[in-house]
Amino acid sequence: MTQDELKALVGQAALQYVTPGEIVGVGTGSTVDKFIDALASMKDRIAGAVSSSVRSTERMKALGIRVVEASDVRHLSVYIDGADEIDHQGFMVKGGGAALTREKIVADLADRFVCIADESKLVQTLGVFPLPVEVVPMAVPQLVRRFAQWGGRGVLREGVLTDNGLPLLDVRGLQISDPLAFETEVNQWPGVVTVGVFARHRASVCLLGTAAGVRTLNF
Ligand code: 5RP
Repeated sequence: MTQDELKALVGQAALQYVTPGEIVGVGTGSTVDKFIDALASMKDRIAGAVSSSVRSTERMKALGIRVVEASDVRHLSVYIDGADEIDHQGFMVKGGGAALTREKIVADLADRFVCIADESKLVQTLGVFPLPVEVVPMAVPQLVRRFAQWGGRGVLREGVLTDNGLPLLDVRGLQISDPLAFETEVNQWPGVVTVGVFARHRASVCLLGTAAGVRTLNF
């Protein structure tokens, strides 16, 4: 199966976590695009969806899925999103699609994070994928120096601003062996808006697309 077919497989499988009558949280990315396509088949049986990006909002609206503002929602039972890396405890690196801040906000409303990914995303230790960090521009040199003290090489993502109008640093060369401690520390650095480590908002379930079918990891 191609990577695209694996994404479609998990996108479809994620429908089992959507409760009819409820609002579902929807992430961002090429895997989530497949989930959105599948979700359209039950658009009349859900109360709507909270989106984590302009990209997902536009795709859902084009398919006739009702989009609800996150600020109008107090609670979601499930948030469904992809990841750039996920480890065997459900900790993730996210933000390859530049939507990490809104993704974390919507994930925070939800009881469960269901991660959908192809098997190439499963890793032993987070950090091979360059870590996305949404930042305030004036803090960039300072933050690059801080990451350098940890062996990381931070580079501004060229030509990209997030939906919040802010730049991203992609940090290479990190080995994130304690994701919870890492996220907690980096969150406190002035100028960091969101770090792409999802430890406090880790996955409760991962649907992994493999050649043998969908593998479900429960954390
Ligand atoms: C966007 C994300 C995505 O979930 C992540 O980049 C995975 O994307 P894809 O499904 O295209 O591989 O975090 O900010």
